[in-house]
Amino acid sequence: MLDAKSEKIVKGICDRSLCLVVVGSGYVGLPTAALFADAGFQVVVIDVKQDLVNAVNNGVSPIKEPGLNELISYNVHAGRLKATLSYEAIARSDAVIISVQTPLNKNRKPNLSYLMNALKKIGKNLKKNMIIVVSSTIPPGTINERVKPTLEALTGMKAEADFYLAYVPERIAPGNALKDFVESPRLVGGIGPKSTKIASELFKTVCKTVIETDASTAEVAKLAENTYRDINIAYANQLAIICEKLNVDVMEVIRLANTHPRVNIHLPGPGVGGPCLPKDPYFLTHMSKLPRPNIIMTARKINDYMPNHIIKTTLKALEKTGKNIKTAKIAVLGTAYKGNVDDPRLSPAQPIIKTLLNLGLKTVAYDPKCEESFGAEKAESLNDAIKKADCILILTDHKEFEHLKLSEIRQYMNPNPIIIDARRIIDKEEATRLGFKYYGLGKHSP
Ligand SMILES: NC(=O)c1ccc[n+]([C@@H]2O[C@H](COP(=O)([O-])OP(=O)(O)OC[C@H]3O[C@@H](n4cnc5c(N)ncnc54)[C@H](O)[C@@H]3O)[C@@H](O)[C@H]2O)c1
Repeated sequence: MLDAKSEKIVKGICDRSLCLVVVGSGYVGLPTAALFADAGFQVVVIDVKQDLVNAVNNGVSPIKEPGLNELISYNVHAGRLKATLSYEAIARSDAVIISVQTPLNKNRKPNLSYLMNALKKIGKNLKKNMIIVVSSTIPPGTINERVKPTLEALTGMKAEADFYLAYVPERIAPGNALKDFVESPRLVGGIGPKSTKIASELFKTVCKTVIETDASTAEVAKLAENTYRDINIAYANQLAIICEKLNVDVMEVIRLANTHPRVNIHLPGPGVGGPCLPKDPYFLTHMSKLPRPNIIMTARKINDYMPNHIIKTTLKALEKTGKNIKTAKIAVLGTAYKGNVDDPRLSPAQPIIKTLLNLGLKTVAYDPKCEESFGAEKAESLNDAIKKADCILILTDHKEFEHLKLSEIRQYMNPNPIIIDARRIIDKEEATRLGFKYYGLGKHSP
């Protein structure tokens, strides 16, 4: 199936003489670059941010991700990995992986400006027979309708004949990125069979399992996965609210329901955040006229409602405990969008903290991993956060919060202390025995 030109690239992949550029050195680009360097390739990461470039060249990871610092340091010192601001590196390479951000704009439409800017610069430096891989999340049709024509127009070359192009969506979860990159089956969709085969050979050098498809199918499959998860979480959240009214514990309901061999209900929480789940359903649907009602946007609305539910629970708890909301202090534990990561993007902590501050509540935020405090006073330690607090609000299930010493915490807090456990990580019986008013998401309030 491969001709002599494409065979030559595959040979460069097999003998590691192929030089690779990764464009965008963020949560996806850095693990990508470090793992390919570790597989033996010469890798250059390009980013527009000088501080990220400097950090990588000093052998330091600018993001907190288990194992990444060591991998970057080892490969930088071995001379296989470096970073630059300059796109000229592309002219000296054979393969490019693009992992720039693709956020939503304020109208919740895909913002592809970072991708298009990167493509313009790549196009100016593209050589014959290169393989270009997009791994940023993109709306359906982007490879064939935007990326391919842009590169062809800029270069005067034909994709699949003069250069190769594939979509290889990323499936990593922050906090487990290196393992996920290697172990999660990887979809590889080229714009034609040669592009698919070359990209597949490239990713097989790092990923254990590669599944070949076409670019358009890979685009939809990526979005379908995350939309499924968003819908499933919305169901768990809806169930949590129902259980609160029925005076049963949603965690026990889910545990029991999941003993059914064909049921897998996810966990409820204070909302859905991060760079993928709140965004990808909009990417999936933005070109389609959906019937109303439709499950995808209904799920989004339910998940977007959850921060309000947590605020209502907090206000109800303060009122029932006789606290004055003008003077009460709330200690928010966790601003990252999920446990054990440093990433605050689209975290439900943001709307919750913003509303608490707008209501005039003294709000202090503590997160051992994440720098962001969303305008709340930032506590440097757990003790600082809980000192004279009236209410602890747990928004992120970091492992540091899973075994809180409640008896000690109780002594630092004001009388009649409250715990709002939006992640269900606290032992309700222990908390109640120690004199806390415990409000768990999906559990009838005291
Ligand atoms: N973070 C995740 O866990 C994850 C998982 C799966 C998929 N994705 C997708 O991967 C893509 C990247 O996500 P991320 O979390 O790594 O984003 P990020 O914001 O952490 O990283 C993107 C990087 O690209 C750089 N950049 C932007 N424009 C550039 C340009 N023209 N040239 C060079 N560098 C440029 C930015 O400075 C930034 O460092 C997104 O499409 C995202 O949806 C992310």
